[in-house]
Amino acid sequence: MSTVTVTLVQVDGEVITIEDAPVGESLMEVARSRGVDGILGDCGGGCACATCHVYVDPAWEAKVGKPDDIEEMTLDMVSHVTRDNSRLSCQIKLAPELDGLRVNVAPAD
Ligand code: FES
Repeated sequence: MSTVTVTLVQVDGEVITIEDAPVGESLMEVARSRGVDGILGDCGGGCACATCHVYVDPAWEAKVGKPDDIEEMTLDMVSHVTRDNSRLSCQIKLAPELDGLRVNVAPAD
């Protein structure tokens, strides 16, 4: 499988399903290339800006996993809107086991 399907729910409620997301790319890269609102990726995937913040659907949290220490520090910059299921989408690398992944785009503030 070289592509997977991912679904992102924008802050305004619009549901965007991407059926040909390339395995190996980050969720941020895929979302940005498809113009998903709220995924800016200002730092280019360097885990430094938190403009790619998403909430992972509870059904997918275990497969996606938890942020590492560096990602946690960046998430702290937006701690007023972080939740237990917060992740930076630039740190979620698409893999076959994430086929069907669903996340909600987090508000910017
Ligand atoms: S793109 Fe900057 S932290 Fe993800």
